[in-house]
Amino acid sequence: MFYKEEMYEYILPLVELVNFSKGYRLNDFDCSSEDYNSFLLNDAEQYINENISKIKLLINKQNGDIISYMALSTDSFLLDSEEKSKEGLDIPFNSVPAVKIGKLATDKKYKDLPYGSFMLWLSLGFLEKINELGVGCRCIIVDADITERPDTPEFYLKNGFEFNEKENKKRTRSLSMRFDAF
Ligand SMILES: CC(C)(COP(=O)(O)OP(=O)(O)OC[C@H]1O[C@@H](n2cnc3c(N)ncnc32)[C@H](O)[C@@H]1OP(=O)(O)O)[C@@H](O)C(=O)NCCC(=O)NCCS
Repeated sequence: MFYKEEMYEYILPLVELVNFSKGYRLNDFDCSSEDYNSFLLNDAEQYINENISKIKLLINKQNGDIISYMALSTDSFLLDSEEKSKEGLDIPFNSVPAVKIGKLATDKKYKDLPYGSFMLWLSLGFLEKINELGVGCRCIIVDADITERPDTPEFYLKNGFEFNEKENKKRTRSLSMRFDAF
């Protein structure tokens, strides 16, 4: 269950999820983090062109604002044997395939509805498509950035994510988290 999921039916007709394009008003996007604003404006296009990430924009259908964006890539992460048994994963290796949300940000003007959580929910659609295409993929993962806001993992916990304990043994700037879609 995602955070405030009961609101998503209300959000759906108000927005459109589109591929990144410079035709949208990238300059106006402000999520209060210079790093995340600058990524959209200066780095996103290169990441897309080099097939490192695909960037999705959530657009306000009424005025064309970018409400939120996310960067998606494929990745894998490690689970220790305890974590595997918790997920019911009986496999002889520790690496699990995933869709990674490399970046997620919501414009500070759009705090009235749970758009960030809505984006996490939408990311599940991409995971489903990958599986439909015939490629195994199990989880959504994120490196919850704790440099600017140490409480960022809270946002993901509210959305049903769990910490990847094995991955986090060696981390200081972010915490790896997973959402098991199965
Ligand atoms: C993190 C982010 C994407 C969340 O988007 P959002 O649209 O505000 O999220 P939602 O409205 O769905 O969820 C809001 C809930 O999560 C909490 N939340 C939002 N951002 C949070 C953060 N950075 N840390 C902790 N909690 C956060 C809110 O307090 C709120 O909970 P509440 O209703 O109990 O007050 C947004 O805050 C953002 O753009 N931050 C700047 C970029 C960033 O740090 N991205 C995450 C990188 S891993």
